Amino acid sequence: MQQQVYERICALVYDEAGIRIRPGKESMVASRLAKRVRALGLESETDYLEYLERELATEVVALLDVISTNVTSFYRESEHFKVLADSHRQLLRAGAKRVRYWCAASSTGEEPYTIAMTLAEVERELGARPDCRLLATDISTRVLKEASDGAYNNARMAGVPEELRKRYFARTEIAGVEMHRAIPELSSRIMFRRLNLSQPPFPMRGPLDAVFCRNVMFYFDEPVKEALVAEFHRLLKPGGLLFVGKSESLPPGSPGYVRAGSSVFRKVN
Ligand SMILES: C[S@@+](CC[C@H](N)C(=O)[O-])C[C@H]1O[C@@H](n2cnc3c(N)ncnc32)[C@H](O)[C@@H]1O
Repeated sequence: MQQQVYERICALVYDEAGIRIRPGKESMVASRLAKRVRALGLESETDYLEYLERELATEVVALLDVISTNVTSFYRESEHFKVLADSHRQLLRAGAKRVRYWCAASSTGEEPYTIAMTLAEVERELGARPDCRLLATDISTRVLKEASDGAYNNARMAGVPEELRKRYFARTEIAGVEMHRAIPELSSRIMFRRLNLSQPPFPMRGPLDAVFCRNVMFYFDEPVKEALVAEFHRLLKPGGLLFVGKSESLPPGSPGYVRAGSSVFRKVN
Protein backbone atom coordinates (compact mmCIF):
# COMPACT_ATOMS: atom_id res chain seq x y z
CA MET A 1 0.00 0.00 0.00
CA GLN A 2 1.37 3.43 -0.92
CA GLN A 3 2.70 5.26 2.14
CA GLN A 4 0.87 8.45 1.16
CA VAL A 5 -2.48 6.63 0.99
CA TYR A 6 -1.79 4.89 4.29
CA GLU A 7 -0.95 8.16 6.04
CA ARG A 8 -4.05 9.90 4.69
CA ILE A 9 -6.30 7.01 5.81
CA CYS A 10 -4.70 7.08 9.30
CA ALA A 11 -5.25 10.85 9.50
CA LEU A 12 -8.91 10.54 8.45
CA VAL A 13 -9.57 7.72 10.94
CA TYR A 14 -8.02 9.86 13.69
CA ASP A 15 -9.96 13.01 12.73
CA GLU A 16 -13.27 11.19 12.39
CA ALA A 17 -13.12 8.69 15.28
CA GLY A 18 -10.13 9.58 17.47
CA ILE A 19 -8.70 6.13 16.63
CA ARG A 20 -4.90 6.22 16.56
CA ILE A 21 -3.62 3.51 14.20
CA ARG A 22 -0.18 2.52 15.50
CA PRO A 23 2.82 2.70 13.14
CA GLY A 24 3.55 -0.37 11.03
CA LYS A 25 -0.07 -1.43 10.52
CA GLU A 26 -0.01 -1.04 6.72
CA SER A 27 -0.91 -4.65 5.97
CA MET A 28 -3.76 -4.69 8.52
CA VAL A 29 -5.19 -1.48 7.04
CA ALA A 30 -4.72 -2.77 3.46
CA SER A 31 -6.58 -6.01 4.18
CA ARG A 32 -9.45 -4.15 5.85
CA LEU A 33 -9.69 -1.58 3.04
CA ALA A 34 -9.72 -4.39 0.48
CA LYS A 35 -13.30 -5.15 1.61
CA ARG A 36 -14.43 -1.63 0.65
CA VAL A 37 -12.39 -1.64 -2.58
CA ARG A 38 -14.16 -4.88 -3.63
CA ALA A 39 -17.60 -3.81 -2.45
CA LEU A 40 -17.40 -0.57 -4.44
CA GLY A 41 -15.98 -2.28 -7.56
CA LEU A 42 -12.81 -0.14 -7.42
CA GLU A 43 -9.35 -1.10 -8.66
CA SER A 44 -6.99 0.01 -5.90
CA GLU A 45 -6.57 1.68 -2.52
CA THR A 46 -5.66 4.90 -4.32
CA ASP A 47 -9.03 4.83 -6.13
CA TYR A 48 -10.65 4.15 -2.79
CA LEU A 49 -8.99 7.18 -1.19
CA GLU A 50 -10.25 9.40 -4.02
CA TYR A 51 -13.75 7.99 -3.56
CA LEU A 52 -13.54 8.46 0.21
CA GLU A 53 -12.48 12.12 -0.04
CA ARG A 54 -15.34 12.77 -2.49
CA GLU A 55 -18.03 10.94 -0.49
CA LEU A 56 -16.61 11.52 2.98
CA ALA A 57 -19.91 12.19 4.75
CA THR A 58 -21.36 8.78 3.86
CA GLU A 59 -18.30 6.62 3.19
CA VAL A 60 -16.57 7.43 6.47
CA VAL A 61 -19.17 5.31 8.30
CA ALA A 62 -18.31 2.30 6.12
CA LEU A 63 -14.58 2.99 6.53
CA LEU A 64 -14.85 2.98 10.33
CA ASP A 65 -16.89 -0.21 10.13
CA VAL A 66 -14.02 -2.04 8.44
CA ILE A 67 -11.24 -0.40 10.46
CA SER A 68 -12.52 -0.84 14.00
CA THR A 69 -12.40 -4.13 15.87
CA ASN A 70 -15.69 -5.23 17.33
CA VAL A 71 -14.57 -8.18 19.49
CA THR A 72 -16.88 -8.63 22.46
CA SER A 73 -18.73 -11.35 24.37
CA PHE A 74 -21.43 -11.91 26.97
CA TYR A 75 -20.17 -11.51 30.57
CA ARG A 76 -16.74 -10.34 29.34
CA GLU A 77 -14.64 -9.36 32.38
CA SER A 78 -17.40 -10.83 34.48
CA GLU A 79 -16.43 -9.36 37.89
CA HIS A 80 -17.74 -5.99 36.64
CA PHE A 81 -21.26 -7.36 36.58
CA LYS A 82 -21.03 -8.34 40.27
CA VAL A 83 -20.00 -4.74 41.05
CA LEU A 84 -22.89 -3.47 38.91
CA ALA A 85 -25.38 -5.82 40.62
CA ASP A 86 -24.22 -4.69 44.08
CA SER A 87 -24.47 -1.05 43.11
CA HIS A 88 -27.95 -1.43 41.53
CA ARG A 89 -29.13 -3.35 44.60
CA GLN A 90 -27.86 -0.61 46.90
CA LEU A 91 -29.52 2.12 44.83
CA LEU A 92 -32.88 0.34 44.84
CA ARG A 93 -32.68 -0.49 48.55
CA ALA A 94 -32.00 3.20 49.18
CA GLY A 95 -35.26 3.98 47.35
CA ALA A 96 -33.97 5.12 43.92
CA LYS A 97 -36.88 5.40 41.48
CA ARG A 98 -35.02 6.61 38.39
CA VAL A 99 -31.78 4.88 37.37
CA ARG A 100 -29.75 5.55 34.22
CA TYR A 101 -26.91 3.60 32.64
CA TRP A 102 -24.80 4.05 29.53
CA CYS A 103 -22.86 1.41 27.63
CA ALA A 104 -20.57 3.60 25.54
CA ALA A 105 -19.03 1.19 23.00
CA SER A 106 -21.68 -1.48 22.78
CA SER A 107 -20.43 -3.29 19.65
CA THR A 108 -22.75 -6.15 18.60
CA GLY A 109 -24.77 -5.96 21.82
CA GLU A 110 -23.40 -8.69 24.08
CA GLU A 111 -22.26 -6.10 26.65
CA PRO A 112 -25.52 -4.09 26.92
CA TYR A 113 -27.62 -7.29 27.04
CA THR A 114 -25.36 -8.56 29.84
CA ILE A 115 -25.87 -5.28 31.71
CA ALA A 116 -29.63 -5.48 31.12
CA MET A 117 -29.80 -9.08 32.44
CA THR A 118 -27.78 -8.06 35.51
CA LEU A 119 -30.18 -5.19 36.27
CA ALA A 120 -33.26 -7.32 35.57
CA GLU A 121 -32.02 -10.06 37.93
CA VAL A 122 -31.51 -7.59 40.78
CA GLU A 123 -34.99 -6.12 40.24
CA ARG A 124 -36.48 -9.63 40.18
CA GLU A 125 -34.70 -10.50 43.45
CA LEU A 126 -35.98 -7.31 45.16
CA GLY A 127 -39.41 -7.27 43.49
CA ALA A 128 -38.58 -3.70 42.38
CA ARG A 129 -39.87 -1.90 39.28
CA PRO A 130 -37.79 1.27 38.99
CA ASP A 131 -37.72 3.55 35.96
CA CYS A 132 -34.45 2.05 34.74
CA ARG A 133 -32.97 2.72 31.31
CA LEU A 134 -29.82 1.78 29.47
CA LEU A 135 -28.41 3.74 26.56
CA ALA A 136 -26.09 1.71 24.29
CA THR A 137 -23.99 3.51 21.70
CA ASP A 138 -21.31 2.77 19.15
CA ILE A 139 -19.78 4.56 16.18
CA SER A 140 -20.41 1.62 13.85
CA THR A 141 -23.82 1.43 12.21
CA ARG A 142 -23.17 -2.20 11.22
CA VAL A 143 -22.68 -3.40 14.82
CA LEU A 144 -25.58 -1.27 16.05
CA LYS A 145 -27.88 -3.01 13.58
CA GLU A 146 -26.78 -6.44 14.83
CA ALA A 147 -27.12 -5.30 18.41
CA SER A 148 -30.66 -4.02 18.02
CA ASP A 149 -31.62 -7.25 16.24
CA GLY A 150 -30.38 -9.03 19.39
CA ALA A 151 -30.10 -12.53 17.88
CA TYR A 152 -27.05 -14.70 18.65
CA ASN A 153 -25.96 -18.19 17.61
CA ASN A 154 -25.04 -20.96 20.05
CA ALA A 155 -21.31 -20.17 19.99
CA ARG A 156 -21.89 -16.54 20.91
CA MET A 157 -24.39 -17.51 23.63
CA ALA A 158 -21.83 -19.81 25.29
CA GLY A 159 -21.10 -17.32 28.09
CA VAL A 160 -24.76 -16.93 29.10
CA PRO A 161 -25.82 -19.22 31.99
CA GLU A 162 -28.55 -21.65 30.89
CA GLU A 163 -31.08 -20.28 33.39
CA LEU A 164 -30.66 -16.72 32.06
CA ARG A 165 -30.73 -17.85 28.43
CA LYS A 166 -34.09 -19.50 29.10
CA ARG A 167 -35.43 -16.48 30.96
CA TYR A 168 -34.33 -13.71 28.60
CA PHE A 169 -33.90 -15.25 25.12
CA ALA A 170 -36.28 -17.04 22.76
CA ARG A 171 -35.10 -19.77 20.43
CA THR A 172 -35.49 -19.02 16.75
CA GLU A 173 -34.05 -20.17 13.44
CA ILE A 174 -32.39 -17.88 10.92
CA ALA A 175 -31.29 -19.36 7.56
CA GLY A 176 -31.34 -22.84 9.09
CA VAL A 177 -29.17 -21.84 12.06
CA GLU A 178 -30.40 -22.07 15.64
CA MET A 179 -30.34 -18.59 17.19
CA HIS A 180 -31.45 -16.98 20.45
CA ARG A 181 -33.16 -13.61 20.34
CA ALA A 182 -33.47 -11.28 23.33
CA ILE A 183 -37.12 -11.16 24.44
CA PRO A 184 -38.88 -7.76 24.56
CA GLU A 185 -38.70 -7.71 28.37
CA LEU A 186 -34.90 -7.51 27.96
CA SER A 187 -34.48 -5.58 24.71
CA SER A 188 -36.99 -2.90 25.69
CA ARG A 189 -34.63 -1.87 28.50
CA ILE A 190 -32.02 -0.76 25.95
CA MET A 191 -31.97 2.17 23.54
CA PHE A 192 -29.37 1.85 20.76
CA ARG A 193 -27.93 5.00 19.16
CA ARG A 194 -24.92 6.00 17.07
CA LEU A 195 -22.46 8.16 19.00
CA ASN A 196 -18.83 9.10 18.35
CA LEU A 197 -16.87 9.05 21.62
CA SER A 198 -14.10 11.24 20.21
CA GLN A 199 -16.35 14.27 19.81
CA PRO A 200 -17.69 15.43 23.18
CA PRO A 201 -19.77 17.13 24.45
CA PHE A 202 -22.53 14.54 23.98
CA PRO A 203 -26.19 15.42 23.55
CA MET A 204 -27.41 13.84 26.76
CA ARG A 205 -28.24 15.36 30.07
CA GLY A 206 -27.59 12.64 32.61
CA PRO A 207 -27.19 12.32 35.48
CA LEU A 208 -26.00 8.75 35.06
CA ASP A 209 -25.55 6.08 37.71
CA ALA A 210 -22.86 4.20 35.79
CA VAL A 211 -21.02 4.23 32.47
CA PHE A 212 -19.41 1.21 30.82
CA CYS A 213 -16.64 2.30 28.46
CA ARG A 214 -14.64 -0.88 28.03
CA ASN A 215 -12.05 -1.92 25.50
CA VAL A 216 -12.28 1.16 23.34
CA MET A 217 -10.15 3.76 25.14
CA PHE A 218 -6.95 1.96 24.13
CA TYR A 219 -7.61 3.13 20.56
CA PHE A 220 -7.50 6.76 21.68
CA ASP A 221 -4.52 8.99 22.44
CA GLU A 222 -4.22 10.98 25.69
CA PRO A 223 -6.03 14.20 24.57
CA VAL A 224 -9.03 12.19 23.29
CA LYS A 225 -9.09 10.03 26.46
CA GLU A 226 -8.83 13.07 28.74
CA ALA A 227 -11.74 14.82 27.05
CA LEU A 228 -13.83 11.63 27.17
CA VAL A 229 -13.18 10.92 30.83
CA ALA A 230 -13.98 14.56 31.69
CA GLU A 231 -17.27 14.25 29.77
CA PHE A 232 -18.18 11.07 31.68
CA HIS A 233 -17.44 13.04 34.86
CA ARG A 234 -19.88 15.76 33.78
CA LEU A 235 -22.59 13.17 33.11
CA LEU A 236 -22.15 10.89 36.13
CA LYS A 237 -23.92 11.42 39.45
CA PRO A 238 -21.65 11.96 42.45
CA GLY A 239 -20.83 8.40 43.51
CA GLY A 240 -21.54 7.08 39.98
CA LEU A 241 -19.33 4.35 38.54
CA LEU A 242 -17.12 4.27 35.47
CA PHE A 243 -16.14 0.81 34.21
CA VAL A 244 -13.18 0.55 31.82
CA GLY A 245 -11.54 -2.49 30.22
CA LYS A 246 -9.13 -4.60 32.29
CA SER A 247 -6.14 -3.49 30.25
CA GLU A 248 -7.18 0.18 30.33
CA SER A 249 -6.95 2.94 32.87
CA LEU A 250 -7.88 6.57 33.25
CA PRO A 251 -5.33 9.14 32.05
CA PRO A 252 -2.87 9.83 34.91
CA GLY A 253 -4.24 12.32 37.40
CA SER A 254 -7.82 12.36 36.02
CA PRO A 255 -9.51 14.67 38.52
CA GLY A 256 -12.70 13.72 40.32
CA TYR A 257 -12.40 9.92 40.40
CA VAL A 258 -11.21 7.37 42.96
CA ARG A 259 -10.54 3.70 42.27
CA ALA A 260 -13.50 1.55 43.32
CA GLY A 261 -12.25 -1.87 42.22
CA SER A 262 -10.32 -3.51 39.43
CA SER A 263 -10.80 -1.16 36.44
CA VAL A 264 -13.76 0.54 38.17
CA PHE A 265 -13.71 4.22 39.17
CA ARG A 266 -16.10 6.25 41.30
CA LYS A 267 -16.92 9.90 40.72
CA VAL A 268 -16.13 11.78 43.92
CA ASN A 269 -16.86 15.44 43.26
C1 LIG B 1 -13.37 -4.00 21.01
S1 LIG B 1 -15.02 -3.40 20.92
C2 LIG B 1 -15.45 -3.40 22.63
C3 LIG B 1 -16.89 -3.79 22.87
C4 LIG B 1 -17.32 -3.86 24.33
N1 LIG B 1 -17.27 -2.59 24.98
C5 LIG B 1 -16.53 -4.88 25.11
O1 LIG B 1 -15.73 -4.50 25.97
O2 LIG B 1 -16.70 -6.06 24.86
C6 LIG B 1 -14.74 -1.67 20.56
C7 LIG B 1 -15.95 -0.95 20.02
O3 LIG B 1 -15.69 0.46 20.06
C8 LIG B 1 -16.29 1.05 18.93
N2 LIG B 1 -15.62 2.34 18.67
C9 LIG B 1 -14.38 2.57 18.16
N3 LIG B 1 -14.15 3.89 18.06
C10 LIG B 1 -15.26 4.52 18.53
C11 LIG B 1 -15.64 5.90 18.69
N4 LIG B 1 -14.81 6.88 18.33
N5 LIG B 1 -16.86 6.17 19.19
C12 LIG B 1 -17.71 5.16 19.55
N6 LIG B 1 -17.42 3.85 19.43
C13 LIG B 1 -16.21 3.54 18.93
C14 LIG B 1 -16.09 0.02 17.82
O4 LIG B 1 -17.00 0.22 16.77
C15 LIG B 1 -16.30 -1.29 18.59
O5 LIG B 1 -17.63 -1.74 18.49
